[in-house]
Amino acid sequence: MRQAEPPEKTGLSDALRKLDQWFNVTDQDLRGIAGRFHQAMLDGLAGAKGPLKMLPSFLNTPSGLEKGSFLAVDFGGTNVRILLVELRGNGQFNILKRKSLPLKDPAAGYDFTLATATGGELFDFLAGQIKEIAVPGEVYALGHTFSFPSRSYDINNAVLINWTKEIKTGQVEGRDINQLLAEALKRQGSPEVIPAAVINDTVGTLLAAAYSDPGADIGSICGTGHNTCYLEPSPPLGRGPMIINLESGNFDRLSFNVFDQRLDQASEKPGQQRLEKMVSGRYLGELTRLVVSDLVRQGLLLGGKHPDWDGPLHKPYSIGTEQVALALSDDSPGLAHLAAWLEEFMGVKDPLPWELAALRHLASLVATRSARLIAATYLGVLKRLDPYLKDRHTIAIDGSLYEKMPGFERGVRSALDGVLGEGGSRVALKLTKEGSGIGAAIAAAMASQ
Ligand code: BGC
Repeated sequence: MRQAEPPEKTGLSDALRKLDQWFNVTDQDLRGIAGRFHQAMLDGLAGAKGPLKMLPSFLNTPSGLEKGSFLAVDFGGTNVRILLVELRGNGQFNILKRKSLPLKDPAAGYDFTLATATGGELFDFLAGQIKEIAVPGEVYALGHTFSFPSRSYDINNAVLINWTKEIKTGQVEGRDINQLLAEALKRQGSPEVIPAAVINDTVGTLLAAAYSDPGADIGSICGTGHNTCYLEPSPPLGRGPMIINLESGNFDRLSFNVFDQRLDQASEKPGQQRLEKMVSGRYLGELTRLVVSDLVRQGLLLGGKHPDWDGPLHKPYSIGTEQVALALSDDSPGLAHLAAWLEEFMGVKDPLPWELAALRHLASLVATRSARLIAATYLGVLKRLDPYLKDRHTIAIDGSLYEKMPGFERGVRSALDGVLGEGGSRVALKLTKEGSGIGAAIAAAMASQ
C-alpha cells in the first residue's frame, strides 16, 4: 500500500496550480484571441499570407426550397458515411438510406489511410460502396463533403491542399477530389452517379442549419478535427455573399504551453494545425496524457515512477478523448469508474482519492480550454459579421466533442456570454447532427438548380 502523503506535501498541489495557469484562458485572453483571429480573417480575405486560408465555397446559403433525392458522401476522417437523402423543401428532409464504412479495418486486412495506399485505391473502395446504395438504373447527383483543406475553383471541384487528422494516403494531395471520385465511379460501373458538388464539412453543417433557419451564418465542426466557416457578405471574388471555409484549425496566433509544443513536435505535421492540436477530439486525450505522464515521471502522481516505465501511459495517443469524457462524466461515489479504468489501463490498483480528483481536474483543464479557445474564434468571426451584434446569428455546430464532451457546450456558451454580455442572447448555438451529410445533399441540389 502506498503512503497517503497529502498533495500539499508531495508538491502535487503546486504542480496543479502551475497547470491551472498554463491552461487558463481568461476573458481578457478571449478578447485578445478574437481580435487576432479577426485580423487573420482580414489578411486572408486580402490574399495576404497568414494562418487562415479563407477558402471560397462558391455557395451562398440555401433558400430552404431545394427538393429531390441526392446521394451524399461524408468523408470526414477515418470513417466515411454514404447517405441517400430526400430533400422535401420547407426545410424538411428524410434520410432514406445510410451506410458507414471504416477506411481502415485491420481484421479485414485493409488500411486506405496509410501512405502506402493510393488515392485510386481509396476512391475505388468508396465508389464500390456508393454503388451498393444507389438504385440501379436511377441517375443521381452526388454531393461530397470532403473535410480536409481543399481549394475550390467552382462548386464541383476541390484540390486537396494537404491531409490533416494524421491521414497519409498517397497520390491525393494536389489532386482534384471529385475528379478522383468520378473516375472511380466510372471504373466501378456507376456512371449514373454524377458528382455535382464538393464542400467542406463546416459548409455542410451551415447549409443543413440554414435550410430551415435563415439566421444561420456560421458553421463549425468540433469533433475529431476542428474548423469553422461563415457567410461572408463581400467576398473578394465579388459575386455576392459566399460561404468561406476558414480552415481555422490552422490558426496559430496563440500562446502555447510546453505540452502543446511537445504534442506538435511529435505530430505528423509539426507547425501546422496549431489550434486544432489544442482543441480537437483527435488531440485532447493525447494532451491529457502528456500532462499526466509528466506528473507521474516527476513522482507526483500514481505512485511516482511507475514500475512499468514503457507502460501504456507513456505510449503516445494511448489515452483518447473518450477517456477525458469519462473522467468528466464520472459521478459515481469516489470516482469509481475512473478508478476502474485506471486499473484496466495501467494496472494501478490503489489510486488515492486526491489522485483521482487531480486526474479529473486535468481532464477538465484540457476540455475547458478547448471550449474557450473555440469560442474565441467564434467571437472573431462575429466581429467580422456584425461587430455591434445588431442581428441574430446561429452558429451551427456538429461533431462528437461538442455533442458528447460533458460541459463542452456550456463552456463555449459561457465564454461567449462572458465577452458579449447582453449581446450573447443574440447568438444561438445549435447542435446540427449529421449536418455535414445533409449539407452535401443540399449542395448537390443547389448545384443542380
Ligand atoms: C480539416 C478541416 C475540417 C475539420 C473538421 C480539419 O482537420 O482541416 O477541413 O473541416 O478538420 O472535420
